[in-house]
Amino acid sequence: MKFFVDTADTAAIAELNELGMVDGVTTNPSLIHKSGRDIKEVIAEISAMVDGPVSAETVATDYETMVKEGHEVAKLGDNIAIKVPLTWDGLRACKHLSGEGHMVNVTLCFSTNQALLAAKAGATFISPFIGRLDDLNLDGMDLIADIRDVYDNYGFETQILAASIRSANHMSDAAKIGADVATAPPGVIKKMAEHVLTDKGLDAFLSDWAKTGQSIL
Ligand code: G3P
Repeated sequence: MKFFVDTADTAAIAELNELGMVDGVTTNPSLIHKSGRDIKEVIAEISAMVDGPVSAETVATDYETMVKEGHEVAKLGDNIAIKVPLTWDGLRACKHLSGEGHMVNVTLCFSTNQALLAAKAGATFISPFIGRLDDLNLDGMDLIADIRDVYDNYGFETQILAASIRSANHMSDAAKIGADVATAPPGVIKKMAEHVLTDKGLDAFLSDWAKTGQSIL
């Protein structure tokens, strides 16, 4: 499973990138707002930092303006995935932009039918939002599994990009189902390294080591 980092925080991206944990980056208007940065400046910077796809989201709601915005953000780097919402206009923009050879990430997906439409419209990535379904006492992970089944039934090449990931368990569950990509905040990716038995075991080893009076260096 590829790891995308869901942030516009360049310092956090750089830290994970050094470890080879960044296969791509996703952003959205809320994350741009959180960064306090100018969208064009920060997307260009991120695009230059990472080799994989960098999603930059359009904000128009009509097809024509969405396509224009898509062209504008695509100029910010050679690895930009243009992000459009899963609306009818968004699907039209997806079809147009993917037909021109752009990578397109269709976002705000909450149903298998929406994912089917995005695949038919030539999306490179479909972004089902797990956490926001969980927030409604639905099971976001069921949606990932359903989309996986449907895409595999028909050999759709659109990549399932599990989004709105809130926990380390979401990451392993998405991987078990076979999501192609998961995008997570940097804190969630770092949390994946944690286990209470690792901490406990390390404490015990260090305590016994201190009793030997030895040093390695
Ligand atoms: O990848 C989409 C993500 O940014 C939304 O996450 O936690 O706001 O639902 P969240």
